[in-house]
Amino acid sequence: MVRILAPDRRAIQEAAGILGAGGLVAFPTETVYGLGAIATNDRAVSRIFTVKQRPLHNPLILHVLDRAAANPLVVWTEPASALADAFWPGPLTLVVTREPSAPISPLVTSGLPTVAVRAPAAPTARRLLEETLLPLAAPSANPSGRVSPTTAAHVADGLDDAVDLILDGGPCSVGVESTVVDVSGEQPVLLRPGGVARGELEAVVGPLAAVGRDDTVRSPGQLASHYAPRRPVRLDAGDPAPDEAFLAFGDVPAGGAVSSNLSPSGDLEEAARNLFAMLRELDRDDVRAIAVAPIPRDGLGEALNDRLARAAAERG
Ligand code: TXA
Ligand code: MG
Repeated sequence: MVRILAPDRRAIQEAAGILGAGGLVAFPTETVYGLGAIATNDRAVSRIFTVKQRPLHNPLILHVLDRAAANPLVVWTEPASALADAFWPGPLTLVVTREPSAPISPLVTSGLPTVAVRAPAAPTARRLLEETLLPLAAPSANPSGRVSPTTAAHVADGLDDAVDLILDGGPCSVGVESTVVDVSGEQPVLLRPGGVARGELEAVVGPLAAVGRDDTVRSPGQLASHYAPRRPVRLDAGDPAPDEAFLAFGDVPAGGAVSSNLSPSGDLEEAARNLFAMLRELDRDDVRAIAVAPIPRDGLGEALNDRLARAAAERG
């Protein structure tokens, strides 16, 4: 059984010690729990890929405290600076050109000339970064392709003692992963909708270009099937069958064999916080499928619909 510790001073110091020795520590960010390794340590970073069974061509996000900590790692562009100033610390990841002399394992970027970087807002993540003083490579702390973890228990469920330690900061406050924007060039490109809504970003840098689902060069991680529960997922379901679990949203009657409501009041932020935990709860052997109510596409709804579409996609 993996050890799970409340993130007090001693636990943070122990976590930093484990990381320094090349270990893996799962820690809470405001979006989802991350599986962290010191980004300069090749062997530690390669363990992340092994433990998650993640394809080596899918690069990782670097976590840093702030812009100053990112300076040696990245080549800033105007839109990158504008977005970092507006949204860091917070659930926004910037893809920028990698500083060629950056002291990070080449595995982090899967050999790409670009690197993804973000400054998390969650206090536990920040205390850990203050203690390590090195960038942490951290993907979501789940087996590749499965539902992302928003509690320490979810991490233990998926990875158990493949992780050296889990810091338990309680449930994540945002609940879906960071928005990923490619700002390596002049025109920002939205690679993954997430915790910062498109409208907020566009208010700062103007319209975001879209990336094709199949543009695997630009966006190596955006596989169609992802975030997948074991049971099949059926979208835009108004009326769940008696042998389906029902993931409801808004003021609709409960139905199906069992149901959970993402937000009875129709609040998309509340729905984002609940999404992954409720998908896990409803992923039961005694139901045939998970039927999901329609969810609006505005604001955080874009990220919610993106995750649900991938959860429902044909499995590879
Ligand atoms: O909220 C989050 O972003 C969480 C927490 C732990 O920070 N992390 C996370 O990591 O979601 P992960 O590995 O599950 O997703 C990282 C995404 C992938 O889709 C990956 O392909 C993309 O970022 N990415 C990383 N580096 C990239 C690069 N150089 N170019 C394009 N996409 C990149
Ligand atoms: Mg992930």
